[in-house]
Amino acid sequence: MSAPVKLALSGVRKEFRVRGEREAFTALDDITVDVRAGEFLVLVGPSGSGKSTLLDLLGGLDKPTSGQILLDGSPVAGPGLDRGVVFQQYALLPWRTARTNIEFGLEAKGIRRRERRRIADEYLDLVGLSGFGDRYPHELSGGMKQRVAIARSLAFDPEVLLMDEPFAALDAQTRESLQDELLRIWKATGKTILFITHGIDEAVYLGQRVAVLTSRPGRVKAVVDIDLDREGDPDVRSSERFRELRHHIWTLLHDEVARAQGLEQAALSADRRSTHV
Ligand SMILES: Nc1ncnc2c1ncn2[C@@H]1O[C@H](COP(=O)(O)OP(=O)(O)O)[C@@H](O)[C@H]1O
Ligand SMILES: [Mg+2]
Repeated sequence: MSAPVKLALSGVRKEFRVRGEREAFTALDDITVDVRAGEFLVLVGPSGSGKSTLLDLLGGLDKPTSGQILLDGSPVAGPGLDRGVVFQQYALLPWRTARTNIEFGLEAKGIRRRERRRIADEYLDLVGLSGFGDRYPHELSGGMKQRVAIARSLAFDPEVLLMDEPFAALDAQTRESLQDELLRIWKATGKTILFITHGIDEAVYLGQRVAVLTSRPGRVKAVVDIDLDREGDPDVRSSERFRELRHHIWTLLHDEVARAQGLEQAALSADRRSTHV
């Protein structure tokens, strides 16, 4: 029997009104996908395909123009501690230490100081930063800051972890080790994770399933099952199956990038025509 649906998106559409334009700009169109409890789902899409827009909708920071987002069967109506969000930029409070950054969400939950500290230390340990609790963000490397951000979003025990290109600003080696860390943490906590990236390797390495987004407007073009033996193969990135999956997703995305560039060219030449007449 498969796990219950944790997050259900159906027909999600997002339009933006653009000043000086008659027609609204459609950033997302008819996004329909389910994320099951405990699943690690990756959304991969080219830049501008509406990934961050979708994350804002999931985080309750903005509302869909139409369609529905259900968390455990109830519509997402605003931000809440049932969802932990990790952004590309570290978004840590610079005047707080690593530990008190992690305690932030716990304060909102009304948890007492000693208990907060105990939980913060537990999550510092989980992300491999025990001993760094008293450091301020500027005293931490980029990778360490992102570990703190992950610990902070996990510490208040959200139902779902939403991650928007959290490793994109890191160097390749740090990124790969944080990917392994994240898989370890996912297994240890059993959280439902929706991870957004434009990186194909990252998507294949992390996801149980990878949803491929089209560009402008973003739609789900395909959902690919990732049947990799991560456990049994210490160098799974070099495996034949990894290459096949990467190629498959690359092909799906490549069509999209080519289409987006075509659209851009068309828009540019329309612009040029209108400025020259
Ligand atoms: N508040 C907004 N108003 C108007 N357009 C927006 C707004 N937010 C995003 N967009 C547009 O929506 C599209 C998708 O943006 P975004 O979700 O940031 O894409 P991605 O994260 O996939 O790179 C872009 O063309 C962007 O310019
Ligand atoms: Mg983005």
